[in-house]
Amino acid sequence: MSVLLIAGSPTAPSRSTALLDAAALRLQRRGLAVQRLVVRELPAQALLHADFGNAQVQEAIHSVAAAQVVIVATPVYKAAYSGLLKTFLDLLPQAAFKGKTVLPLATGGSPHHMLALDYALRPVLGALGAGHILPGVYASDAQVTLTPEGAYQLQVDIADRLAEAVDTLLAEALPSASCSGFEPVHFSRVRCSV
Ligand SMILES: Cc1cc2nc3c(=O)[nH]c(=O)nc-3n(C[C@H](O)[C@H](O)[C@H](O)COP(=O)(O)O)c2cc1C
Repeated sequence: MSVLLIAGSPTAPSRSTALLDAAALRLQRRGLAVQRLVVRELPAQALLHADFGNAQVQEAIHSVAAAQVVIVATPVYKAAYSGLLKTFLDLLPQAAFKGKTVLPLATGGSPHHMLALDYALRPVLGALGAGHILPGVYASDAQVTLTPEGAYQLQVDIADRLAEAVDTLLAEALPSASCSGFEPVHFSRVRCSV
């Protein structure tokens, strides 16, 4: 069983990729192997010229085919998902996501475009055959902040929402993996009643 993480941001470091990293960490803690596909690392000319025969593009298409579960992350660009992600999705075979469970993730400058996942990305994933598309997770830039070291970190509310989404993904797509143990809980989050 394999989980593929698709990073659809043209920039690095990237807030939407930080969501993907947090999801990856949670999956890895459950003992799952994850594979990454960073679309910005594919050759730009092959993407823009729809060069289906390009070796790196072919390899990327194969990694989608081999995955059972796909988590796709994108920034919101002009009220939709990134053009970079679209260039890659356009190269996939029509039923590329058939039989797969997909979790969409996005970040945007403000909360106003949080529905972009639903009205823009979800129909495309469906057109590519995705049978099961889980409710997406959207974070505004204020919820994914820069540390002094220059890394992105998730605020607690969005980290919790993402963890819940990953657990749902595990329960629905990989039930045997979802009951392999408990996640460690930080002491600050333990609540006692007396
Ligand atoms: C070209 C461009 C267009 C954008 N359009 C929108 C937009 O329509 N709505 C929005 O909420 N944020 C928009 N943003 C802000 C990004 O979605 C936001 O900063 C996001 O977190 C960037 O993710 P990334 O770091 O993974 O690339 C835009 C940013 C750029 C560079």
